[in-house]
Amino acid sequence: MSYDEFYVKSVIRSLPDWPEPGVVFRDITPIFKDPKALRMVADAFIQRYMNSELTHIACIDARGFLIASIMAYQMQKPLVLVRKKGKLPGETVHQEYKLEYGTAAVEMQIDSVGPGDRVLVFDDLIATGGTILAACTLIKKLGAEVIESAALVDLPDLNGSIRIQEAGVPVYTMLAYE
Ligand code: PRP
Ligand code: ADE
Ligand code: MG
Repeated sequence: MSYDEFYVKSVIRSLPDWPEPGVVFRDITPIFKDPKALRMVADAFIQRYMNSELTHIACIDARGFLIASIMAYQMQKPLVLVRKKGKLPGETVHQEYKLEYGTAAVEMQIDSVGPGDRVLVFDDLIATGGTILAACTLIKKLGAEVIESAALVDLPDLNGSIRIQEAGVPVYTMLAYE
């Protein structure tokens, strides 16, 4: 089944003024209720990265976990977690960031990745780019290299993918909402 952007966009739901006035929330949860859409999206990402030089996939809490874990399983690559603060046991590195709505912090366990590792950072969506940039900061703190960041959805009006690229990290997204 080949990737059909029109079909995937028809499955994603747009909710105006959620979680606060002025935000149009792009809800990807219907993709997980639609096996055809999920397979299209997961297979397209797997095809892109199957023969790349990546050694690890770092996935971002929570929505980033879902597609990235399918990729890691199929590609037989280690999956490492970038979690919201206070969720990971043991010694962690910590980075604060801003969201389109509010602020947050992410953490990784210090043995997640290290020098010599080439990491793909995966999330569901790029808005301001703050979340992926914070994840990239953590991975670099641990001595590893971020080879690319990827997301299903880009919101280019919020300039996140440009900010990430200006920080020296290539960005790949599958579809955009202007
Ligand atoms: C959303 C989304 C991305 C992030 C994008 O996550 O899943 O991770 O915001 O925004 P940014 O580019 O401005 O950083 P959120 O923290 O709302 O929560 P969730 O994934 O746990 O649902
Ligand atoms: N995360 C940040 N902004 C978002 C949006 N507009 N829709 C879905 N997830 C988001
Ligand atoms: Mg998220």
